Amino acid sequence: MTNNRFPTVFGVLVAVAALAAPANAVESHIPERPAVASPGNAPEAEAILGAKLLVCNTCHGADGIPRSAGTPVIWGQEETFLTKQLKDFHSGERTSEVMTWMATALTPEEVGAAAAFFAKKTWPGRAGGGAAASAPAGVAVCSACHQQNLVGGLAAPRLAGQTNQYLLDSMRRYADGERTNPVMVAIMKAISPADREAMARYISGL
Ligand code: HEC
Ligand code: HEC
Repeated sequence: MTNNRFPTVFGVLVAVAALAAPANAVESHIPERPAVASPGNAPEAEAILGAKLLVCNTCHGADGIPRSAGTPVIWGQEETFLTKQLKDFHSGERTSEVMTWMATALTPEEVGAAAAFFAKKTWPGRAGGGAAASAPAGVAVCSACHQQNLVGGLAAPRLAGQTNQYLLDSMRRYADGERTNPVMVAIMKAISPADREAMARYISGL
C-alpha cells in the first residue's frame, strides 16, 4: 500500500483537503487516476503525486482562486517561473515557512510535473478583485519584462489579476531583500511604499 511510504505531512494535509473539497471529488484520499501522467513511473508514484497536487488546492484553490489574500494565483502562471520558485523554496533561496515545507516534500521530478500541471490550467478571472483605475506613474516600466498588460512571458511571471495582497507582500519582500532576485530588488528599493501600494492595486485589477 502507498500509505506506508506516504509522508505524514501529506497524509494530514490530504485529509484536510478531503474535508475542504466537495464529497464526490474525494471518494478516497488518494485519487485513483493520477493528476499527472508520469510515463516510466510506477502507478503508485503517480498516485502519490496526484495526492500531493490535491494538497496544493487547500490554499491555492481547487478552482485556481486562492483561499486567502496572501496566497498567489498559480493556475496559468508561467511554467519556467513556477519551476524556478519551487526550486528556490527547495534550496532556501526563497523562504516561506509553508512553501519550503511543501516544496521539499516534492522530488525534483515532481517539481517539474507540478509546475507543468498548474501552468497548463487557465488563469482564473479577476482573482484580485481590485478596480482598474488609470495606470500609476512608473508601472509602464514593468511591461519591459512582464509583457504588455503584465500578462507574463518567458522573461517574467504574470502579474495581471494577481491578488492585491500578494502583489503588495512580494513587492515589499523584494524591497526588504527577503526575496533575492537582483533585478526585482533593485526596482522595488527605488519605489516608495505608497507607490508600491498604488501599483499593486492597479495591477490586481487588470
Ligand atoms: C498551506 C497553504 C499552501 C499550500 C498547501 C501550498 N501553498 Fe504554495 N504558496 C502558499 C503561500 C502563502 C505562498 C506565498 C509564499 C510567499 O511569497 O512567502 C505560496 C507560493 C507558491 C508559489 C510561488 C508563486 C509565485 O507567484 O511566486 C508556488 C509556485 C507554489 N506556492 C506552489 C505550490 C504547490 C505546487 C503546492 C502543492 C505541492 C503548494 N504551493 C501548496 C501557500 C500554500
Ligand atoms: C528587467 C525585468 C523586470 C522588470 C522591468 C520588472 N520585473 Fe518584476 N520580475 C522580474 C523577474 C525575472 C521576476 C521573477 C523573480 C524571482 O524569481 O523572484 C519578477 C517578479 C516580480 C514579482 C513577483 C511575482 C510572483 O508571482 O511572485 C512582482 C510582484 C513583480 N515582479 C512586480 C514588478 C513590478 C510592479 C514592476 C514594475 C515597477 C516590475 N516587476 C518590473 C523581472 C522584471
